[in-house]
Amino acid sequence: MKISSVKHCLTEDGSSTLYSDQFGAHYHSTHGALNESMHVFIEHGLEYLRINKNVKRIKILEFGFGTGLNALLALRFASEHAIGIDYHTLEAYPVKATQLQKLNYTTSVGYSNEFDLLHECNWNTKIEVTDQFKIHKSHIKFEDYEEQDNYEIIFFDAFAPTTQSHLWEVPILKKCYNSLSKGGILVTFCAKGSFKRNLKSLGFSVERLPGPPGKREMTRALKI
Ligand SMILES: C[S@@+](CC[C@H](N)C(=O)[O-])C[C@H]1O[C@@H](n2cnc3c(N)ncnc32)[C@H](O)[C@@H]1O
Repeated sequence: MKISSVKHCLTEDGSSTLYSDQFGAHYHSTHGALNESMHVFIEHGLEYLRINKNVKRIKILEFGFGTGLNALLALRFASEHAIGIDYHTLEAYPVKATQLQKLNYTTSVGYSNEFDLLHECNWNTKIEVTDQFKIHKSHIKFEDYEEQDNYEIIFFDAFAPTTQSHLWEVPILKKCYNSLSKGGILVTFCAKGSFKRNLKSLGFSVERLPGPPGKREMTRALKI
């Protein structure tokens, strides 16, 4: 597998993102990477589960490890709420260390040593990063991932359908459906109509939620 060629840039909330030459896309919203990740994945994902399901241990599956921002925010969430998190993330094109060094997330989020560990730890091995947070990074294409049926939440963070339309179609979304436990949720920044119809065709109950700054809507899908 090729390692992607990427450039560092700043988004409107002052937080970093990367631009992939390979895919012609940014890793996050240019309106604010940190704001987007917090809004979509933490507030409408993890916080929703914490409040509504009263869980003490959460299994997360992420499509697209990228910069590790979602993983860092989930690690902080685990620590702040004393919740155990098992974080399984899938990534085919790991970002080079030289680009990772430019990311400024720990300036506002903290957990600098843990962020380094998230990136430096081996692929394809389960690692305990803190007492609350374990990570398992799989170096794999989404297309080759074989589903497992016990996650409470999926962070679906592929590049947008304009860039990678096939990842928002039924074959990949079926893997998501089969990987979730009953009552589990998928959250994503995307609110495209055809994507939501694909989710419904698989049996998901689909919610439209207000999007992060610069985006009208996002999606949360519940496995009923
Ligand atoms: C939108 S970015 C992910 C952002 C990431 N969650 C973060 O916080 O930085 C999409 C990610 O999916 C990865 N990717 C793209 N196509 C893939 C594929 N077919 N299989 C696995 N990973 C893929 C890219 O390398 C990139 O890291």
